[in-house]
Order: sequence, then structure tokens, then C-alpha cells
Amino acid sequence: MIQQQNKEELSNQIRFVSHEIRNHLSICDMYSLIIKKNLEKNGIENKSIENAIDCIQKSLQIINANLLELKSLNQNNSKIFDFKNTVVSAVELSKAYIDDKNIEFELFIKNSGNILIDENKFQACIVNIIKNGIEAINIAGKITILGEVKDNNAILKISNNGKPIPKDKQEQIFSQGYTTKDTGSGLGLNICRKYLQCQNADLKLIKSNKSETTFEIIVPIVEN
Ligand SMILES: Nc1ncnc2c1ncn2[C@@H]1O[C@H](COP(=O)(O)OP(=O)(O)OP(=O)(O)O)[C@@H](O)[C@H]1O
Ligand SMILES: [Mg+2]
Repeated sequence: MIQQQNKEELSNQIRFVSHEIRNHLSICDMYSLIIKKNLEKNGIENKSIENAIDCIQKSLQIINANLLELKSLNQNNSKIFDFKNTVVSAVELSKAYIDDKNIEFELFIKNSGNILIDENKFQACIVNIIKNGIEAINIAGKITILGEVKDNNAILKISNNGKPIPKDKQEQIFSQGYTTKDTGSGLGLNICRKYLQCQNADLKLIKSNKSETTFEIIVPIVEN
């Protein structure tokens, strides 16, 4: 019985980690395409190429960390990071998913503080939520990311103005395997919530209606 449970836990963990690897591999893939297109069009070097290469490197780092985790299972890599810097770099990564949609990004982080997190996992959560937001927008729309530190918590609100989540599905979206997408695995939000709750943080859907869908991440601020 216990053995069966361990086996199930192990296979869940492997599936979760490979899900993250897949997400980040597709980031590398998309940025490689951008590099190629730019090379063809303009010549050798420009800012976009530099940015794409930075993102590819960051993604490779994340893939590496995920693979290490797959090997050792449940590694805890929590360290102190600056909330604002971590969010800004994750938002940059997530822009790879815009592809050929017309999406405006608004990013405003009012103030910052230190958070104790596994940065790769925390950024993977932000990327997962923004990716969902982009996927909810058909052709054109807006993603808004607002951050602030209030009452010893860092609060991050990620919104999009795409197709809303029906009222009766708003809790189900966090269940493992729940997806409405042809190629989705329904693991993104489930993993995000688990990762965040393991790190003393939380993830909630705070609203989803015709005008806006907003997710909120809350992480405690720590002393230096
Ligand atoms: N911002 C959003 N707007 C509208 N629907 C959303 C949003 N975020 C999540 N959903 C709904 O919740 C479901 C579950 O999301 P989740 O990220 O867990 O899985 P997925 O995106 O379907 O697949 P993947 O595992 O590849 O991320 C989605 O299929 C979608 O129906
Ligand atoms: Mg998803």
C-alpha cells in the first residue's frame, strides 16, 4: 500500500517536472525562431537578438534546475530574492508566448522587498499564469502585472482581458488535469498552487468576468 503510494507520488513528481521542462523548451524554441528571423532581415546584431539569447540562457538554467530536481526529488532551493527583480525577469521570459498576437503588456511594481523562494519555481509560476492569460486572448488584448508590498506581504496581480472562466469552473481550474485546451495538460495552475503553498505563499483567482480575469500571488516578505 505504502509502496503503491510512493510510486504514485514519484510518477506525479516526474510528470510535474516534465511539464515545466516542456514549457521552457518551447520558450527556447520560439526565441530561436526570432533570432533566425532577425538575422535574415537585418544582419548580425541587435537588441532583440541579445534579449532572445538572454532568455534562452535563463530557460536553459531552469531546465537544468528541473532536471536536477528530477534526480534528487524534492530539493529545496529557497533563497532570498528581491521581489521586483524576480517578477520583472519572469515577465520578460513570458513574452515569448505572445507569438503573432497583438498583446500590450503593462508592468508596474509599486515597491519591493525580500522574499524567500526557489526563484526558478516562483518564476515558472508567473510564466504559467501569464502564458494562460495570453492563451485566453484571441487576437489582441492586454496583460497587466501589478505588484506591491503591503502589510509584510508581496502581492502580485496578473490580469488579462481575454475570454473569462465560467463561474462553475473557477475552482476546478486548479485541479490536476483540468484543461479546456486541445494541447493542454491541465497541470499549470495545479503545479503553481502547489509550489507556492509549499513556499508559504498562495495563489488565488480573484475575479473572472467579461472585462478581466485576475490571479493573485501572495508571498511573505522576510528580513534580510
Ligand atoms: N487566464 C485565464 N483565462 C481563462 N481561462 C483560464 C486562464 N487560466 C486558466 N484558465 C483555464 O484553466 C484551465 C487550466 O489551466 P492550466 O494552466 O492548469 O492548464 P492548461 O493551460 O490547460 O494546460 P497546461 O498544463 O499546458 O498549462 C485552462 O485550460 C483554462 O480553461
Ligand atoms: Mg496553462
